[in-house]
Amino acid sequence: MPSKQPEYRRYLVPIDTSSTQQLFCDCLVIGAGIAGLRAAIEAAETNNVMLVTKAALADSNTWNAQGGIASVLGEEDSIEEHVADTLQTGCGLCDEDTVRRVVSNGPELVRQLLDWGADFDMINGRIDITREGGHSKARIAHAHGDSTGRGIAEALVRKVREKHNINIIERFFAIELITSKDKQCLGIIGYRAGSGFQIVWAANTILATGGAGRLYRETTNPAVATADGLGMAYRAGAVLRDMEFMQFHPTTLYVAGASRALITETLRGEGAYLLDNKGRRFMPEYHEAAELAPRDIVSRAILDRMLSTKSTHVYLDVRHFDKNHFAKRFPLISELCESFDIDVSVDLIPVRPSAHYMIGGVKTDFEARTNIANLYACGEVASTGLHGANRLGSNSLLEGLVFGRIAGRQAAQNRRDGANGMAYHHMKYQIPVSDRSHLDTDDVRNSLRALMWRNVGITRKGRHLEEAEDIIRFWQRYVMDKVFDCSRGWECQNMLTVASLMTRAARIRTESRGVHYRQDYPKRNDAKFAHHFEQSDTE
Ligand code: FUM
Repeated sequence: MPSKQPEYRRYLVPIDTSSTQQLFCDCLVIGAGIAGLRAAIEAAETNNVMLVTKAALADSNTWNAQGGIASVLGEEDSIEEHVADTLQTGCGLCDEDTVRRVVSNGPELVRQLLDWGADFDMINGRIDITREGGHSKARIAHAHGDSTGRGIAEALVRKVREKHNINIIERFFAIELITSKDKQCLGIIGYRAGSGFQIVWAANTILATGGAGRLYRETTNPAVATADGLGMAYRAGAVLRDMEFMQFHPTTLYVAGASRALITETLRGEGAYLLDNKGRRFMPEYHEAAELAPRDIVSRAILDRMLSTKSTHVYLDVRHFDKNHFAKRFPLISELCESFDIDVSVDLIPVRPSAHYMIGGVKTDFEARTNIANLYACGEVASTGLHGANRLGSNSLLEGLVFGRIAGRQAAQNRRDGANGMAYHHMKYQIPVSDRSHLDTDDVRNSLRALMWRNVGITRKGRHLEEAEDIIRFWQRYVMDKVFDCSRGWECQNMLTVASLMTRAARIRTESRGVHYRQDYPKRNDAKFAHHFEQSDTE
């Protein structure tokens, strides 16, 4: 489907190899969440690796992950059941081979993390596991109670630091993938704090840049999740798939002045109730699994209850939990609630849904390859076919782990096969200076985030999507032709690019499936829509 965007140009910044500092590596990994770290470790078996990340190593969705990582670790569980739950939740759009591969690699890779020092919570010498919505068995491993992401990331970072052939560069903003005329990825141009623009020539590049939660006013995601990898991959000619599927997390802390912190689903997995503003438990009215229904159903039920009770939020009730156990099992949430004088043994926790996880992304094959030679993608930026139209909670850390290893291995193999090399390429790409006036990009970003929340949110309607497309197109006309020299500007351009792809896909899918709910087409329509939408700028 053709999707050229207004004010299109191939690169956001001018490139001139005669005046820009250049670096070289076998394998370049962009992003330091679970997928990027795991990919770097694997590639470093035989390659020299450069790992760049736009902020600090700790600024990723992985570090913030609370609930856990899903894997078959219990005696009563089986690979087949985990596969079946994933397929069931994915509403007909999962790739079954991919699901089977990810799920069956899980136990080995989670235990490897344990060997590498990830401090998973243990019980009787085994990894302790709990439940989350949509999982028919307990299979969620967690660390430090509700700081699973940090527990995993710290172990991976230690491993990365042990490898003398991984060069970690923090505060390096990857602006563009550089491609040749015959569509090979040659590396990137980026901006490094303290050094300015730099070009990295790489034999292979692995995109592990995470998601797009910051496109929404309400989100669990950290400030870095501005869809940069999706934007640069699209401009480079990569195929993006399933962009209509943004997952909303049902329970984000809703306290004025607080950041929209995630309140993990494992709370509901372990017995927390959802109450409306009259103190009534409402989930049994919406689904037989009540609070443990799939996330899309819980998010819509909460929204429905907020509307019918004219309230801005609902509540999580954990007053029946043992107070000491709660503080031990969920230390992060305990601390967060205490900081707002919420005593969870007597008070309710105010929550509402918010944007959480980008299911769509850069289309990859079974070996993490994109349609661009020498470019791989893994983690949230990729669309591997695992999640279909709806992601099962805690399957994403698992996907990042499995596909991170695959991407690292494939990139290293590609280098060993001598299929490509890192090499200097002469380049001069000029951009005419825009004569339009100065722009307040923060204002554009805030307006975009409010628009996406209102018009491309948990429930959608054709005319709202059309309106959003028009407005985004208008903003693109005067933002995309600018040449910025700071990350706020490049982020704003990426956010607009990706928002327009998401909105367009959501308008075209005139049915409801998984996390994509159309009020004007509330039913799933397998006859017309049991397939993926792909978008690429080359068509
Ligand atoms: O609720 C949670 O802890 C989130 C888990 C996930 O998104 O996978």
